[in-house]
Order: sequence, then C-alpha cells, then structure tokens
Amino acid sequence: MQRSLFIIKPDAVKRNLIGRILSYMEAADLTVVGLRMVDMTMEVAAGFYKVHEGKEFYDKLVEYMSSGRSVVVVLEGEDAINRIRKICGATDPSKADEGTIRAAFGISITMNSVHASDSTESAGQEVPYFFPDLG
Ligand code: CDP
Ligand code: MG
Repeated sequence: MQRSLFIIKPDAVKRNLIGRILSYMEAADLTVVGLRMVDMTMEVAAGFYKVHEGKEFYDKLVEYMSSGRSVVVVLEGEDAINRIRKICGATDPSKADEGTIRAAFGISITMNSVHASDSTESAGQEVPYFFPDLG
C-alpha cells in the first residue's frame, strides 16, 4: 500500500469540480485517508513547490496556487503514486491522454487542475507538509 498527496488546484475548486475529480480516485479504488481545504499563502505555495524554485514558471505557479482555495488530499492504495499520476495525465492538458483528469478539465499548462506526488520520496515530503499527523 502507498500514500500520495493529491491536490485539487484553485482553477478546479473555483469551477465546482471537487466531487467530479475525487470520483476518478474513488472509482480507481483509491481511498481518501486525509482531506482538507487550504487557502495557500504565497509562502505556503512557494514552500510546497520549492523543488521548482528558479525555473521560469515558478513565480507564475506560486501566484496561481495562492490565487484561491485548493483541496489537499491523501490517497491510499496499491501502487497509488504511479496510478494517480496516470489518472491525472500529462502536465500540459493539451498533451494529456483522453480519459485523464487534465484532458477533461485542465485549462493550461499552469492551470492544470491537479497535483499528484511523483515518487515515494516526494510523497514522503508532501504528505506531512499538509498533514503533519499522517507522515
Ligand atoms: O504537476 P507535474 O508533476 O505534472 O508537473 P511539474 O513539472 O512538477 O510542474 C509543477 C507544476 O508547475 C505543474 O503542474 C504546472 O501547474 C506548473 N508548470 C507550469 O506552469 N509551466 C511549466 N512549463 C511546467 C509546469
Ligand atoms: Mg511534479
């Protein structure tokens, strides 16, 4: 069993897509073990995406992630990390496979509706960033 940090980003929360997006996860037998709504400050968003600091898209990303409320979720399941990434689709929604969340709902490469941990290492940092009790 693995745990992964999943985020429904501000563009999707604003468009009332929380339930529809979470249903992709529940349909794939991924279990919600932590969930809360977070209105990220610039500091919280910058800390979460620190790995991307210095990249050309970093400032835009931090601004977007602090532009409204997100839903942060810990999901648990067999091979959760890789399976969730597949269900999300490619970072750029215009390149995401049909049937993925980003193909269905993503607006742009920045406003791509969801985040998912990309490795056991990143999940190990991202889960406690928002859920200190669930490390
Ligand atoms: O989210 P994912 O792991 O697929 O992509 P990433 O390369 O880790 O980038 C993190 C986030 O930065 C993306 O989900 C996009 O919101 C944003 N991004 C961007 O705005 N422009 C890019 N060229 C690449 C990423
Ligand atoms: Mg990433």
